[in-house]
Amino acid sequence: MNESHPRISKAVIPAAGLGTRFLPATKATPKEMLPVVDKPAIQYVVEEAVGAGLSDVLMITGRNKRPLEDHFDRNYELEEALIKKGDQERLAKVQESSDLATMHYVRQGDPRGLGHAVLCAAPHVGDEPFAVLLGDDLIDPRDPLLARMVEVQEREGGSVVALMEVEPSQIHLYGCAAVEPTGDADVVKVTNLVEKPDPADAPSNYAIIGRYVLDPAVFGILRETEPGRGGEIQLTDALQKLAADESAGGPVHGVVFKGRRYDTGDRGDYLRAIVRLACEREDLGPDFRNWLRGYVTEEMQGL
Ligand code: G1P
Repeated sequence: MNESHPRISKAVIPAAGLGTRFLPATKATPKEMLPVVDKPAIQYVVEEAVGAGLSDVLMITGRNKRPLEDHFDRNYELEEALIKKGDQERLAKVQESSDLATMHYVRQGDPRGLGHAVLCAAPHVGDEPFAVLLGDDLIDPRDPLLARMVEVQEREGGSVVALMEVEPSQIHLYGCAAVEPTGDADVVKVTNLVEKPDPADAPSNYAIIGRYVLDPAVFGILRETEPGRGGEIQLTDALQKLAADESAGGPVHGVVFKGRRYDTGDRGDYLRAIVRLACEREDLGPDFRNWLRGYVTEEMQGL
């Protein structure tokens, strides 16, 4: 790393989506605030950014997303009440989220897609590489991914996406990357990208999972990117232009992730995330695992 290549410090978290898959829970509550065990899903994502050394977080929000701002702010009334009770443990939990990172917010206004959401970050990010973390993807805190992506970006320049091999039947749910190997087992060069291809046309089974470290050149490209799949401005389409033309701000590399990842935007995966993370918790795990063992045994007997 040298002077002309400052350390990446900014993370952008798009959080303007409507969360329709979780209605009615998300009628008046942002989907990002749904608890995974006892913490809102979005807090795991901010903790992940901070864990990778990114302490400046910009959230792209929209209407009805005020609880996000409140969650990462102080709550003096609640703190006061807990201090009076002498409940230090809960006080620490309340203060944890407001002490995590320097938070910034900008509203997306028109919901014109992920590419448009990222473009809303341009004035804040300026001319430095930055990370994007999608709130629906929860990366298990025990399997760090973002720190490795930052490392690869600092070495290779350009942009880096997180990739995961998925069943070919699932590739239509993701951005899909054609790749070439590099000297590192977990790093590939991305040669082509397609947003949510039909399985028959997919160039591979490498899916983009919601972590990116991007060159700021992506902003200029996004400004010129026409709406793509679903009539939305797609980040994948802008990255495809970077992958195809290194002089435009490429290259694009992929870090292949083999750890635990949950799609908390999907109800089944959301439940799996809660069960797994609850089992691992020191405070809740032992009791919960016991109960789960009994429950599973009963279920098996019923089969
Ligand atoms: C977005 C991206 C897609 C990516 C996915 C990861 O899609 O457009 O390329 O694979 O996130 O979760 P969404 O799931 O928001 O439709």
